[in-house]
Amino acid sequence: MAFERVGVVGLGTMGAGIAEVFARAGLRVIGVEADAEALARGRGHLERSTGKAVDKGRLAPEQRDEILGRITLTTSREDLRDVDLVVEAIPEILDYKISLFKDLDRICEPGTVLATNTSSLSVTAIAAATGRPGRVVGMHFFNPAPVMKLVEVVGTVVTEPGVVADVTALAGRLGKTAVAVGDRAGFVVNRLLLPYLNHAAALMELGVAGRDDIDAAMRLGVGLPMGPFGLLDLIGLDTAYEVMGVLFDETRDRRHAPSPLLRELVTAGLLGRKSGRGFYGESGAYDGGAP
Ligand code: 3HC
Repeated sequence: MAFERVGVVGLGTMGAGIAEVFARAGLRVIGVEADAEALARGRGHLERSTGKAVDKGRLAPEQRDEILGRITLTTSREDLRDVDLVVEAIPEILDYKISLFKDLDRICEPGTVLATNTSSLSVTAIAAATGRPGRVVGMHFFNPAPVMKLVEVVGTVVTEPGVVADVTALAGRLGKTAVAVGDRAGFVVNRLLLPYLNHAAALMELGVAGRDDIDAAMRLGVGLPMGPFGLLDLIGLDTAYEVMGVLFDETRDRRHAPSPLLRELVTAGLLGRKSGRGFYGESGAYDGGAP
């Protein structure tokens, strides 16, 4: 199946990035948000991201206009009736996702593939809520979506094999590499990455080293583009904490228990880049110094 028209529901950081990726690859995109205010924020994400590429000379202004011209923004899910694929990127609340997928199941043609960008919820539970569980998959992008080259394609025990193959081929068309993964908490990347980030917070709490030294150690000693605290700020401390909680719930392995420090920072509203404060930030960043 060739995908030409796609819908993206939820235009936050991830959804807007995903919409941009599709439009850059020449697909027509319908971007859906809940209300006019959220839609305006989504438009802002798209304009800033493509504008930055123009400023850096990576994109000609005409190319940016073409990309943005392929994206239609709407607050009506009903506008998704003719798309070949929908990717959902709304908040990680299972009830919201199930209600959305029931709606998409009613609105879209029976052949339309419905994908979720969830990083922590059960794709199987979402698929089972629809009348087309064989055509529901996970399509997990990474932050920042326009830059990161991987898509995890999550199949469930009832996914039609052809659907995984089609979505894998689509990822290739987007310039990404797809890996096929099963529906287990964290899939592959988060299953391995989040415990590492969690341990970084634990090391800081133990007083083994502070923020800057831990980040420098992992950047310079391992060649990672960012240290763990820079990456926690990028992912969002709330998102990271939530995924850690899901890993712990599924495995019951104490090593996955989320660090109390992260819980404290999330409770205090230090969420990373999205709130302007986290382990880094203009004011009140937490660098592991004495509380
Ligand atoms: N949107 C679009 N493009 C962006 C971007 C964004 N938010 N952030 C950076 N870019 C682009 C820049 O424009 C630049 O493009 P160019 O080379 O064409 O000019 C390129 O990416 C490199 O950016 P910079 O030079 O500004 O900065 P860096 O070289 O420091 O790279 C980074 C920034 C790409 C974020 C890099 O630090 C990196 O790869 N970090 C690790 C990110 C990572 O691990 N992400 C996965 C998180 S886990 C996840 O998402 C799963 C979830 O479920 C929790």
